Amino acid sequence: MNKHLLKIQDMTTEDIIAVLDLADKLKYETKNGIQHHHLAGKTLGMIFSKSSTRTRVSFETGMYQLGGQALFLSSNDLQIGRGEPVQDTARVLSRYLDGIMIRTFKQQDVEDLAKYGSIPIINGLTDYCHPCQILADLMTIREHKGSLEGLKAAFIGDGNNVAASLVVGCLKVGMSISVACPEGYELDETILEFVKPYGDKFSMVRDPKEAAAGADVVYTDVWSSMGQEGEAQKRRAAFEGIYQVNSDLMSVTNDKCMVLHCLPAHRDEEITDEVLEAHADEIFDEAENRLHAQKAVMVMLMK
Ligand code: CP
Ligand code: NVA
Repeated sequence: MNKHLLKIQDMTTEDIIAVLDLADKLKYETKNGIQHHHLAGKTLGMIFSKSSTRTRVSFETGMYQLGGQALFLSSNDLQIGRGEPVQDTARVLSRYLDGIMIRTFKQQDVEDLAKYGSIPIINGLTDYCHPCQILADLMTIREHKGSLEGLKAAFIGDGNNVAASLVVGCLKVGMSISVACPEGYELDETILEFVKPYGDKFSMVRDPKEAAAGADVVYTDVWSSMGQEGEAQKRRAAFEGIYQVNSDLMSVTNDKCMVLHCLPAHRDEEITDEVLEAHADEIFDEAENRLHAQKAVMVMLMK
């Protein structure tokens, strides 16, 4: 495993499976009251330039459960918010902390933190990707389906940060994935480059039903991500009425098809309330598994 978790592309298939295996073990121990203070005395700094419920609470709680502590650092309150360069911030924080989780806009800022600092950096979401989310998603799929290889996933909606990491993660573990998105909202070109060796295990289409046909897992996310609030109206016009996970779409999937959503969800926009509630067990297991998967990442990077 690399020193950092900056994006899923940096992980090998073996790294991903090792994280999932450790996450399952930590989940079992947590549920059975078995303590695992692997990070006793260690401190994680958590830099947030965007809102968060799941990422913040799961990292913070996870760190306590591992015997360490976590510091919530709002970028508005750090000097970084007043223009102190990332390369200086990285070197200073490396002298106090044992690891940093950062949620921000530019992927380059996360890469720079890793370049100039000397401690492990974990990407808690950028405009480009959301690797921790996808580790929890794969854990949830494996938990519900028993294995990953050969399953088919479909992503319906914006070719955003979550879609980008999902495509890479699914392909790396032997799944196939089809993405349905409107024109102008395709996956980042680096992802389209990444998928090339995977042949027909990847497809990008316009029609959600074409993507969802025979799927074992259907996934969606909001039409407008954090930082895109100004485009919300234009985006709604591009997605509304077509890019929605609803019962009609679910009629073309495999039997026992799972539905996942990274949350927060906008009911009756990208997913109907009916489908979300029918698959609530899967979606909230997915949210819970953020905790276990990230604990595994922290143990592997920070122990
Ligand atoms: N899915 C996810 O990352 O949720 P938060 O934005 O609440 O952290
Ligand atoms: N694509 C969403 C995911 C939130 C967890 C966003 O970036 O806002």
